[in-house]
Amino acid sequence: MDTFDAITSKLDVRQFDGSRNVPREVKLKILEAARVTGSGNNTQHWRFILVENKDALESLSKGSSGPWIATCNFAVMILTDPSLGYHMIDAGRATQDVQLAAWNYGVGSRLFTKLETDRIRKEFGIPQNLNPTVVVGFGYPVKKITGRKRIRKPLGEVVFLEKFGSTFDASKVK
Ligand SMILES: Cc1cc2nc3c(=O)[nH]c(=O)nc-3n(C[C@H](O)[C@H](O)[C@H](O)COP(=O)(O)O)c2cc1C
Repeated sequence: MDTFDAITSKLDVRQFDGSRNVPREVKLKILEAARVTGSGNNTQHWRFILVENKDALESLSKGSSGPWIATCNFAVMILTDPSLGYHMIDAGRATQDVQLAAWNYGVGSRLFTKLETDRIRKEFGIPQNLNPTVVVGFGYPVKKITGRKRIRKPLGEVVFLEKFGSTFDASKVK
């Protein structure tokens, strides 16, 4: 898949086809994408937990803002070091990379950030110096995803030329 097509066609899926397993090779590509993502100062402070166990996925769903995780084929928990000012940017970059890597193989995904941190920390053995910052769930989407993203503001509303507040005119771009 062309990178631009991957970016513009990927959606955050909520409904996963529980009857289809994502092949091991694809999971390993997703983890490789996480590994090679650039981090601030190349600190690579992040750690990733691959969660395949159904009971563990169910547990992640409890009290979270991602109840759909229970129906995913697997998840990747992204742990980052909150003492680094840019750790959320790093988490975001890794998130987007794993999602795009998955989508390259037709695997859908979605993320959430609100979870029962203390309980999850104990259950998954997460050390105090790392936060479970993002959980990304993966699986094949129930509905076929085609076409471009729809629910997005137009370019003219979110982009300015040279100065904030200026009207954006694409024909003026050099
Ligand atoms: C920082 C961030 C936090 C998010 N948190 C949640 C969440 O807690 N639960 C959830 O179901 N989706 C979450 N999402 C997914 C967004 O709702 C989704 O990206 C947005 O609605 C656009 O979806 P679309 O690409 O399918 O149009 C989050 C996305 C981002 C970027």
